[in-house]
Amino acid sequence: MRTSPLLIAFALVFAVVDVPFVGHASDENKVEVFSWWTSGGEAAALDALFSVFERQDPGVQIVNAAVAGGGGSAARSVLQTRLAGGTPPDTWQTHPGSELRGQYVEPGFCEPITDLYKSNGWDTAFPKELVLSLMTEDRQIYAVLAGIHRGNVLWYNARLLEKNGIKVGDRMTFDQFFAACDKLKAAGIPALGVGDSGVWASAQLFENTLLGVVGTKSWLDLFSGAMQWDDPKVKEAIKLFGKMQDYVNADHAALSWDQAIKALIEGKVAFSSMGDWADGEFLKANLKEKVDFGWICHPGTDGVFIIIADGFTLAKNAPHKEAALAWLKSIGSKEAQEAFNPIKGSIPARTDVDRSKFDAYHQWSMDSFAKDKPVPSCVHGEAAPAAFQQALNDAVTLFLVDRDVDRFANALVRAARGFPARNP
Ligand code: GAL
Repeated sequence: MRTSPLLIAFALVFAVVDVPFVGHASDENKVEVFSWWTSGGEAAALDALFSVFERQDPGVQIVNAAVAGGGGSAARSVLQTRLAGGTPPDTWQTHPGSELRGQYVEPGFCEPITDLYKSNGWDTAFPKELVLSLMTEDRQIYAVLAGIHRGNVLWYNARLLEKNGIKVGDRMTFDQFFAACDKLKAAGIPALGVGDSGVWASAQLFENTLLGVVGTKSWLDLFSGAMQWDDPKVKEAIKLFGKMQDYVNADHAALSWDQAIKALIEGKVAFSSMGDWADGEFLKANLKEKVDFGWICHPGTDGVFIIIADGFTLAKNAPHKEAALAWLKSIGSKEAQEAFNPIKGSIPARTDVDRSKFDAYHQWSMDSFAKDKPVPSCVHGEAAPAAFQQALNDAVTLFLVDRDVDRFANALVRAARGFPARNP
């Protein structure tokens, strides 16, 4: 087929001229989006959100202000500096609950977006409980959720386990888990992959183990102040967490969370206890569910769903408010939720999505979310104030060196004084 001379002329013109709809919008028509989504799976999912937004609102230039570092370990302090200095991004990634309220709403860094809920019918599209309990302050809503992660997942390299004669059913007790670890250790394989160059990954392993030992009620009691952090059950969890260290990869402190998942993919480690953003890495690497990798609940946590939800805010005095509102509207759309979550590993926050667009892991997680008990994560900022989250990270760091169970528990007792400011 011959290309028409007219088409060639167009191509030449567009090659040399600034064309607004290919991303050179004027300065006014842009939105700065702040997040920490930079790993392979995270960046791909963020790109999917951007693509949907570009389709829905052509002409708005997106400024991707992502700061690398899983769990927001580096991003959150960069953000605080910008907020305190009066130069906010238009919108930023946040965890609802204590983080959203304590770090952003109460200091006055956010504008409510309650009207978006009304004008877009979101009052019925999003789980009321979640919106009311985690994102509402004085009857105003301050964020819209892009997706909901499950924190307490134990991932495994299916081929490696099979090769070593280890069978995993649909759940695992701590005893079964440690039996598998011993078998792998005897074969010279570090059973548990951790990448805690950002300490939070180890803190998350502890968090998952704590829930597995104390259960839902005690979890909520710990964060409401009804149970003490030096309770024998907490100490039992600390001991188990200590025992796990004997099976962790030696280079854990040099790896990020996603490098640890990469080690699992490559068969260098067998298990990893990590939130389901890990699924994004498996997908990015084209791994097959149940063939190459599998998942179960972290031992002892069947029937409980640690919620790690990702929302976006509207900055007070947002430099580009209209574009920011359009971005938030896009995040809450069915189209965005169906494009983003299958890649990110999270499930949509909207309850009216087309389930057939999701793979087996997502189906499992959606079922779990529908029937299991939800609890907020401490490591990802929902359950407790930032100071406690930091104290937990510090206690974990020290424990990895001294293995002193009492010191760990006492540090948490001290950190918990003065809260609950409010039960999430
Ligand atoms: C969490 C966040 C997830 C994922 C993870 C690792 O805090 O909610 O979306 O990005 O950190 O970076």
